[in-house]
Amino acid sequence: MAQATETSVTLRPEFLRVVEMIYREMCNLQPKTKVLILADSRTPPHVVSAFMGMAMTFGAEAMVGLNATPPPPTLQPGIKWNPMVIAASREADLIVDLAVGYAQFIVDAVLRGARVIMPGDGTGAHHIEESLIRCMLTTDVHALRREADQIAALFTQSDTCRITSQEGTDIEFDIRGLSGTPSDGFLWDPDKGEWKSSWAIVPPAQPGITLPKGSGDGVIAVDGFLLYEPAYDHETPTSPVFLTIEKGRLVKVEGHPLYAGRLRHWLASLPDDSGTYGPIHFNLGTNPRAMMTQHLEFERIRGTIDFGFGDNSMLAPLSGEQFETVKSDVHWDLLIMRPTLTLDGKVVVENGIMPKTPPSF
Ligand SMILES: [Fe+2]
Repeated sequence: MAQATETSVTLRPEFLRVVEMIYREMCNLQPKTKVLILADSRTPPHVVSAFMGMAMTFGAEAMVGLNATPPPPTLQPGIKWNPMVIAASREADLIVDLAVGYAQFIVDAVLRGARVIMPGDGTGAHHIEESLIRCMLTTDVHALRREADQIAALFTQSDTCRITSQEGTDIEFDIRGLSGTPSDGFLWDPDKGEWKSSWAIVPPAQPGITLPKGSGDGVIAVDGFLLYEPAYDHETPTSPVFLTIEKGRLVKVEGHPLYAGRLRHWLASLPDDSGTYGPIHFNLGTNPRAMMTQHLEFERIRGTIDFGFGDNSMLAPLSGEQFETVKSDVHWDLLIMRPTLTLDGKVVVENGIMPKTPPSF
């Protein structure tokens, strides 16, 4: 099911429209803003030029920090970044992150008042141009933003969450007192004319919730993907992998022999058990154009739910949360394709199909 989409070698004209939209509508970019663009050796050079040149047309001061290709995204929490890049980040007002993702220096930048936008989830790589054009120009990102705000509010006002699937998922979470996050890609709310976030992932959207350590009891039947080592990106099991969760900890991995075996082997090879803690977040994909490509857009496929395991010690402060988190050198994710999600017994998505408008509670 995983599909590699087009990797362009020359600038596609639509990409300039996307970059302009990101700066104007999502970042509210103003003249004199100090913009640091972080890329790596996989980022197509014309993508970097488009972000730098467009920032300059807004009157911003732009520069690029080009990194070597990093280890796989699962290992992001433990990567040691070049201190020269970290030093540059301390001067930035806006970081356009095409390469880094989860990193303490990114959290530090947000906590001291900078804003961070991640076109491509910090692992933009080869496919970023095609992914952003398709997921942002062929659908209404403002409608996605408003819908994500509504769904985040439903999470915030609910006490219990149950996720099931005909493949065998059945897991419950106590979400009393937790805040939903829209994760809609917008730092700026153009409807209200005010800032709405300091950290945003593009393309939109994946409203969800970050969970305290120890959350969740039940089973997840993985039929979408597993994003973990040794896969550099992700792998799609051809029959489900079943994960048994007890009090926010993965205690059993069964199902497809190849993928269940690889996951068990990888977790056992880690220096500690912190990778077994989770789910530490889950999110509902809402983008009707997102696909199962090699780009992390797959976490936005409309009607799917992704779950994260391992570190959320950096995710929680980015979401403004204060609860006990999991500290780990790994963060891995998985996707279920046909979830039914209920909040306090009311259906938000059924068998992977989302209604046109979210339910009102
Ligand atoms: Fe995650």
